[in-house]
Amino acid sequence: MPWNPEVYNQYKSERAAPALDLLALLNVRPGLTAVDLGCGTGDLTAKLAATLPDARVLGVDSSAEMLVKSSETGSSSVNFECISIEDQLKKSQQWDVVFSNAALQWVPDHETLLPRIISTLKPGGQLLIQMPPQHHNLTNRLLNELATKEPYSELYADWNRISPVLETGRYAEILFECGSQSMQVFEKIYPLVLKDVDSLLTWVSGTAIIPYLERLPDPLKEPFIKDYRALLASHFPKTPVFYAFKRILIEARF
Ligand SMILES: C[S@@+](CC[C@H](N)C(=O)[O-])C[C@H]1O[C@@H](n2cnc3c(N)ncnc32)[C@H](O)[C@@H]1O
Repeated sequence: MPWNPEVYNQYKSERAAPALDLLALLNVRPGLTAVDLGCGTGDLTAKLAATLPDARVLGVDSSAEMLVKSSETGSSSVNFECISIEDQLKKSQQWDVVFSNAALQWVPDHETLLPRIISTLKPGGQLLIQMPPQHHNLTNRLLNELATKEPYSELYADWNRISPVLETGRYAEILFECGSQSMQVFEKIYPLVLKDVDSLLTWVSGTAIIPYLERLPDPLKEPFIKDYRALLASHFPKTPVFYAFKRILIEARF
């Protein structure tokens, strides 16, 4: 997918809030190995490494565009690899910490993905995941709604747009079924206050709209963005725009 680190980083501090909450759940011990699945620009991977003393940390991401920025982290305890999360998991490497912020919502089939991820944890290992439940968040639901309308619906006909993100309670069940020793699973609203609807459009342009645009021929990309903006404007008529953005946070030890 054509990720754009400049657009993504326009709301760096807003996007950082759930990530910092996730980092705060880390069980800090010296000498751990950790992997950051879907590490993006690597900023958070570097923070993870800085939080864990004497750790070896690997950031993996399938987007070469996002990883370009990772070389700027300048930490010798962090390495990066351009590889999909699915292929990384096939390697059977074992970790003390598996961390993933705002990435697993892009990976299908969480019923099998979560147990697969958990199987890469060493005994005593810790899992930390944050992701948005897209089926609850209005900006995602409006994208889906627009995709069912002409002229777009025909072009999306073969694409399964159902979010892989499960109901929050199901994650707790999966953790239990996989033998967790302890867990914290919760939803949190991150209030976004944005100048206007164009700022909200920019927010979505950094992430959720990307797979919709990449499946459209060039002449339909601009009309899609215009129609989506109009939908957003009808739901967010006031300024500043207040958007209650929901996230799921998962922490568990095995
Ligand atoms: C919203 S960004 C989050 C980046 C970073 N974790 C952060 O919190 O800043 C999502 C990242 O997941 C990556 N991603 C999506 N699907 C992936 C997959 N199947 N394998 C590897 N990376 C993936 C994207 O390339 C993107 O960099």
